[in-house]
Amino acid sequence: MREAVRVIDEYVMGMVEAAEQLRARGAEEQEQHLLSRFAAAMDEEAALGGELGEMFGSPDAKRRFLRDVVVSFVLAGKDTTSSALTWFFWLLAANPRCERRVYEEVARCSEAEYDEELKGMHYLHAAITEAMRLYPPVPINSRVAAADDVLPDGTTVRAGWFADYSAYAMGRMPRLWGPRCREFLPERWLDVDQGEFVAADAARYPVFHGGPRACLGKEMAYVQMKAVAAAVIRRFRVEPVRAPASMDAPPPYEMAVTLRMKGGLRVRIRRREDDDSARKCL
Ligand code: HEM
Repeated sequence: MREAVRVIDEYVMGMVEAAEQLRARGAEEQEQHLLSRFAAAMDEEAALGGELGEMFGSPDAKRRFLRDVVVSFVLAGKDTTSSALTWFFWLLAANPRCERRVYEEVARCSEAEYDEELKGMHYLHAAITEAMRLYPPVPINSRVAAADDVLPDGTTVRAGWFADYSAYAMGRMPRLWGPRCREFLPERWLDVDQGEFVAADAARYPVFHGGPRACLGKEMAYVQMKAVAAAVIRRFRVEPVRAPASMDAPPPYEMAVTLRMKGGLRVRIRRREDDDSARKCL
């Protein structure tokens, strides 16, 4: 374990130093670099003094802190978003009506303005949220009580007891999501009048956890997932190769820290223009 951590730390430290050199040269690309932005924010904190100022005071302490930020972002953000997108693409294949609606929304948007346009993609936002309701990337989460406690509903928890919750089970409870809880219905997240996305309370939808230790990368995760989904769906059809996707026969899952699709999702990628030109020929 120690050896493995050392390998990862050294690799990431190389990235931190490379970003530092970019900043020192005042290179233009550093403006876009998340790491450089983080470093700049830390310099501002350090300039303000106080506890954080001391913490980031020495160049070595700052480098180590940035290294740990990168490692935790990768650990927290890579397997989670890829798990969500895998199930999302499968669910779209099993629900062609929803795939059509996502396609119509992303095709309407200009690619040059994606940053701004992503915010306006309410149906895509709803579809990704709905996919994570049925297949939450972190399906089970645990806490250990540090001291005797009483939960808001009156349940007693003694010091040292585990308190777990399953976002997977909660996402499939008729009491929380109604009789159609097993169906993939992005529309349930859209306001009836405006068609705008309406978020659910973390106590009902704990996919990003809730309270003071809730996910810090939620907004960034949505930007990444929407950008990838929009770029793919705009140009390609994604067709699972194993069997026609159907909600009655979902692929098996595999429990790791994240909810993986067993064996992964093998797909055939088809260019949309090919479909269109084939249609024109007919
Ligand atoms: C679909 C994608 C994601 C899901 C479902 C997700 C879910 C979660 C959950 C359930 C937790 C609570 C873990 C716990 O304390 O038991 C968490 C924490 C965290 N997440 Fe995410 N996450 C996602 C993406 C990301 C991304 C992209 C980043 C960073 C760029 C990120 C950064 C973090 C961090 C830093 C924490 C720790 C917060 C703390 O303990 O104060 N996450 N996430």
